[in-house]
Amino acid sequence: MNNDLKKILNYLNEKRGFDFSGYRTPMIERRFKHRFALTKCKNFKSYLTYLKNNPSELDNLISALTINVSRFFRDTLVFEYIADKVIPAIIHQKKQKNDPSLRIWSAGCAMGEEPYTIAILIQDFFKKEAQYFQVNIFATDIEKKILKKAEKAVYPLESIEGVKYRLLNKYFTTKENLFHLIPEIKNLVSFSVYDILDRKISTPSESIYGDFDLVFCRNVLIYFDSEHQDQIFDKLYRALAKSGYLVLGEAEIPSRKYQRYFQRVNECCHIYRKI
Ligand SMILES: C[S@@+](CC[C@H](N)C(=O)[O-])C[C@H]1O[C@@H](n2cnc3c(N)ncnc32)[C@H](O)[C@@H]1O
Repeated sequence: MNNDLKKILNYLNEKRGFDFSGYRTPMIERRFKHRFALTKCKNFKSYLTYLKNNPSELDNLISALTINVSRFFRDTLVFEYIADKVIPAIIHQKKQKNDPSLRIWSAGCAMGEEPYTIAILIQDFFKKEAQYFQVNIFATDIEKKILKKAEKAVYPLESIEGVKYRLLNKYFTTKENLFHLIPEIKNLVSFSVYDILDRKISTPSESIYGDFDLVFCRNVLIYFDSEHQDQIFDKLYRALAKSGYLVLGEAEIPSRKYQRYFQRVNECCHIYRKI
């Protein structure tokens, strides 16, 4: 890694406590080039000077590095499989064990599209089945600013294009071309800042303990080098309950070291079970 780039990452860590040193270098370099163009800097050295002289650029840089792109029902097939197979299987097991609690974690939740999608599916499932379960959905991200937006749960059309009309009509209201999620769904999700690479705290503090039935870590791992991916898989493995489900992004698979700890549940999507 370029020395000046290292200096910038150290500066960012010092100022904001974000550690981007485990991110894949080509990805980081691409994001920096974008900031160079917008700030008219030629290289890492001049950008570092710019950053020190313009503290507001720190936020722009963090946003550029974290990439918060998401949407409701991103990868339709995955969520259809979760609704048809995963949720009923978890509930069936829980009923057999007389355990009425459901614990879910969305790690790298961006503006809440992913945890709210699962909240909609669960609410819909319980309404149809007329059952009571204590549902806890913990949603975490490294970026505080994005979580504030997630808590508001107001979305433009692009975010909700994948939502079926029946669900859109039932769980959103529309105002001035924006889609507002109804409180019944909003209240199922609690958001908090959590760095997935945090070595001190193994699961989000709000969740108190892990034991998650279902964990989403989608389109987050792609940013990290293999050493840090191992670190993340170790965390995800420990956070999952026995036979819990792990949902990854379309381009993600368990790191080589962790492949034997997860079994893929079907051919069509990246959903795994803890072995
Ligand atoms: C591309 S979005 C994925 C959102 C959602 N999971 C999805 O698949 O649609 C990646 C998210 O991961 C978050 N992220 C990046 N590094 C992180 C870290 N070290 N800890 C927690 N979240 C992180 C980013 O802030 C961003 O919101």
